[in-house]
Amino acid sequence: MNAPTACNEQQWKIVQIDDKDIIQDLYQRGSASFLQNANQCFLACYNKRSDNREWLDHIQSGAAFITTFQLLAHTMGVGSCWIGHLPNKSELQRMFDIHPVYEPVALVTYGFYRNKVKTLPRKHDVSRIIMKNRFVSDHLVFDLSRSTLFRTIGRYIYYKIPAVFRRKLRHMTVPYEKKFYYETFD
Ligand SMILES: Cc1cc2nc3c(=O)[nH]c(=O)nc-3n(C[C@H](O)[C@H](O)[C@H](O)COP(=O)(O)O)c2cc1C
Repeated sequence: MNAPTACNEQQWKIVQIDDKDIIQDLYQRGSASFLQNANQCFLACYNKRSDNREWLDHIQSGAAFITTFQLLAHTMGVGSCWIGHLPNKSELQRMFDIHPVYEPVALVTYGFYRNKVKTLPRKHDVSRIIMKNRFVSDHLVFDLSRSTLFRTIGRYIYYKIPAVFRRKLRHMTVPYEKKFYYETFD
């Protein structure tokens, strides 16, 4: 409840989900497949009536809530995972009867750690991240093979398919889920 929000408006709404059928349904509709193993999660929503649409204030405020939750939960031995791999927002809006003034920001699974927590190595050295006074682009190298166009179109079509068919296709789509990238490029 002490997470920062734009103009200190504190306009969060959190839908806590502990019904396994609902969690399973979220998976069947095309959410991240590891959701199948989750016992509980929450959907963070935020009031989208903001005058600062340019900076998506409501999304930033919702994201700050999630990060604050994750850090605090960690201190209590509770691990969590932020999930953005979800059906379209309008579909979640209908599934959970979310009031039209509120927008779903992301889903978060959580539970007690089973094992000791390991910190994974970071991908970049901090000296490559922080710049002084201006954005320095000269040394950036991009991986040109990483095209998102195909995935963007595929994703758009997949989530437009009615849920009843998407459920039937679900087992075939698992291999196409976005995996972690380990590239060393910028
Ligand atoms: C906006 C956002 C969306 C994310 N979506 C997913 C997701 O759909 N599935 C998933 O497994 N993890 C997702 N994550 C979690 C990241 O993979 C995770 O936070 C990151 O790899 C750091 O892991 P670490 O805390 O173990 O270092 C998401 C994180 C963010 C910030």
